[in-house]
Amino acid sequence: MLHQADYFTASTHHQPRVAAIVGCGDNLMALSWHTPISKSPFRYAIGIRAENLTHALLVKHRSCTLNFLPFSHYESIDLFGKEHGGDKLSKTPLHATHRDRHNNVIVDESDMVFVCELIDTYENGDHTLFILDITQTYINDLPPQPALFFGQGRYAPLGACVRATKKGS
Ligand SMILES: Cc1cc2nc3c(=O)[nH]c(=O)nc-3n(C[C@H](O)[C@H](O)[C@H](O)COP(=O)(O)O)c2cc1C
Repeated sequence: MLHQADYFTASTHHQPRVAAIVGCGDNLMALSWHTPISKSPFRYAIGIRAENLTHALLVKHRSCTLNFLPFSHYESIDLFGKEHGGDKLSKTPLHATHRDRHNNVIVDESDMVFVCELIDTYENGDHTLFILDITQTYINDLPPQPALFFGQGRYAPLGACVRATKKGS
């Protein structure tokens, strides 16, 4: 049964969003406010608060990676989303043996990695929307296991991938 929830809690802490990690220079930050906005060119928008170090880094470097880690690494995702700067990676079991061509960190254990170039920003509310062109992608050979983030430290895995019935069959 549905019940009316507090507006702020409902709007920020109950939407399931796929967790990603922004790699900018050496820094890694957890991010769940992201969406594709164009297929061709392949373009993403990500929302970042000005108080986060990544905000200033992205304005400076104008490029980043988007790393989609599997659910099994939710503790590391959470750590990337709690600390500001510093060597976060060394506090996790994760590895970063590669860099993109702009020298942004790539997390080896990712299901998928996008290499991104900043093309625009948009201010409206308390997050800056960074508009990114995806110029290169890496995909892991292992089946993807996205981590859903619900806010307040809550994570969930996705179940089996199923295909809906085709119209007319
Ligand atoms: C799973 C998760 C998702 C998050 N999503 C965002 C987001 O989309 N935008 C944002 O500005 N902060 C988000 N945060 C908070 C930042 O990751 C957090 O403030 C982080 O410490 C910033 O790191 P930095 O200062 O090194 O850039 C998220 C935190 C977590 C745990």
